[in-house]
Formats: sequence, structure tokens, C-alpha cells
Amino acid sequence: MILVSVGPTAGALAAPPVVRELAAAGHEVQVLLEPGTDHFVGPGAFLPISEVVEGPSGAPEAVLFLPATAGTLARLARGLDHPAAEALEGGAPAFVVPDLDAATAKNPAVRSNLDTLREEGTKILLGEGGGMAGVDEVVAGVLGGLGGPMAGLRVLVTAGGTHEPLDSVRFIGNLSSGKMGLAVAREALRMGAAVTVVAANIARREPGVGWRDVRTVEELRDEVLREAGGADVLVMAAAVSDFTPAAPEREKIRRSSGVRSIELAPTPDVLRAVREQNPELFMVGFAATHGDPASDAREKLGKKGADVIVGNDISREGVGFGAEENEVYVVSGRGERFVPRATKTEVAREILGEVLALKDEER
Ligand code: CTP
Repeated sequence: MILVSVGPTAGALAAPPVVRELAAAGHEVQVLLEPGTDHFVGPGAFLPISEVVEGPSGAPEAVLFLPATAGTLARLARGLDHPAAEALEGGAPAFVVPDLDAATAKNPAVRSNLDTLREEGTKILLGEGGGMAGVDEVVAGVLGGLGGPMAGLRVLVTAGGTHEPLDSVRFIGNLSSGKMGLAVAREALRMGAAVTVVAANIARREPGVGWRDVRTVEELRDEVLREAGGADVLVMAAAVSDFTPAAPEREKIRRSSGVRSIELAPTPDVLRAVREQNPELFMVGFAATHGDPASDAREKLGKKGADVIVGNDISREGVGFGAEENEVYVVSGRGERFVPRATKTEVAREILGEVLALKDEER
């Protein structure tokens, strides 16, 4: 169970969405409202996803101070009384999300309290530019800090489908919804990894992960090459166009232009380009096939220089593109495993399990 101690600042408005995310990641969450918090958020905002308590029902696995006022920082650093301090006595890790105005953040006493907490091993979660951390940053910080089988790994996931422009309003696209890639991102986050998603044309954002929007194959390749150097694992779930119009029009092509055919040019193979620059990176590719997915996946394993290829038969109803479920073969150097029809979340877990097993063998 994670105990969230909500402090009395406007930053308390971030607490309900953070609690929702932690609960969605499979954690039981109990919420303690510090005195004065009801000016900003009440118990109703946390129900029914979590329980609002006077004190935790047992020893928590972590305590999150969200937001932490300057007063809370001082109390924690100096060992003074605090409504949630007792919960830390069992040695649970503490995560602190300070919500301080610029002048308070510069105050020497406040800075010294933060230093003391850091030295004691408390994780201080700050936002970009030193402001209060956002919901995504807090969720990623807590889930990553709690450990798990992927703790310490940086996972880069591509998701969605590319759009190759034909003219100013039309494109060549595909039916990928991004669900499989986002399920992998979410599961990796839950297993403790730091996750970045390169998202090709996905409207819905996945909380708790780094996010890079791209549209075309070229943009996707550039972004993946930029991020791959800092990653341990790449999961290439995006459906990448194999062709692009050779000479896209700047304006809308008119019916009266009499166009009958459009010349296509091949796109760069992203996985191969990544492999050339990153020989050590652990790479997972996908192979969507009409027919026998295992043999196609085996062939692509060698051709793409990937460590794992996930193959699925897209001629089957209810699985694959756009569906909630998938049925796949996970093919790697140590053989192949059939994952019978299951939710994309369960399939994602199987894929990441294979990644961990192979990485273990590497060591
Ligand atoms: N892929 C890629 N770059 C491309 C096309 C695909 O990196 N230009 C990646 C996909 O993201 C996927 C894997 O390669 O992880 C396999 O994609 P697929 O389209 O099945 O493979 P292709 O090499 O295009 O082979 P084919 O179309 O002949 O099946």
C-alpha cells in the first residue's frame, strides 16, 4: 500500500489524478489529508479509487508527500511531528513533491532542509525548471523509485502508425491504433522502467511516460535515433509505412488534375538504422502477417538485427490492429513462444517477460 499525504497548497489538486494513476498501476493507495487541505481538495475527490484515512491501516511500502509545503519539509528534515511521519518508521521509502513559490524555494533554510532529506535518502521529485512536478513526473518518479523487475532500465517504445503526406490534406496511413505500444509502455512503467514513447499520430497520451509526437517515418526515425543512445531497450511497436509518395504536392491535389497514379519511394528501415548506430541496444520488433506469423517473425529476426520479433496473424478477427486483444508468437534466439489470445496488457507483460529473461541470460 502507498500512503499519500496531501498537503494544504493549490498543488493538492494534482493528488487525485496521481492517486488514480498509482491505483491503475495496481497499487492500493490510502490518502491522508493534512490539516487545511480541505481548502483545496476534499475526501470525495479520492473516492472510490482509494481510501481516505486518519492513519495508514498497516506499514506502507512507500509514503508520498504530495504536495509538501515548506513546513512539511522542515518537519521531515528536523524529525518534528507530522501526521504521516509515523508511517516512515518502518523504513518505507519517502517521496516528496515540494510545492514552493520562487522566493521560498530560494530560502536558505528550505534549501538546507531539502539537502538534509536528500542525504537521508528521501526522493525529492521536482518539475522541469524547478517548479512543482506534474502528475506524469510524480507517477513515473514513484513507480520507478519503488523498484520492480525493470527498475534501472530505460525503455523506448514506438507506438501508433505513420502518416506519409500525399498533398496538404491527404496521407498514406494504416490502421494501427497505438494500443499495443501503449500497453507495452504502461507495463514497462509498472515494472519500474523509465519509459519514453515516440508516438505516431496518437491522440490519447499515456500518463507517467516521456512523450515525443511524430507524424512521418522520417520524423519517427530521427526521434528514435536521437533517443536510442540513452535507452537500454527499444520496443518498435509502431506500424511504419514501407512507402512514401515520391513527390508530395504542397497544395491539395484537385480532381481536375486528372491524377491516375502516384509514384512511391521506399522509406528507410528504422530498426536497421538504429541497429547500425547502437549495436548493444536490445531491440524488439513486430511483424504483422497474413498467414503464418512465426515463420515471418523468424525471418525478420535475422534481417532486422532484432533480439525479439513479435509476430501476429492479422487475418484473424478480433486481434491485432485496433482490437483490444492480440494473439502472438514471441520469437527470439532461444526459440519461439505462442501467447494465446489475451488482452494487449497481458501480451505486453509476456513480451517484457521475454526481454527480461533474455537480458538475464546476457549477464
Ligand atoms: N519497421 C521499421 N522501419 C520501416 C518499416 C518497419 O523499423 N520502414 C519495423 C516495424 O516497426 C516493425 C518491424 O520493422 O517492428 C517489422 O515491420 P514490417 O512492416 O512487418 O516489416 P518490413 O520490413 O516492412 O517487411 P514486409 O513489409 O516485407 O513484411
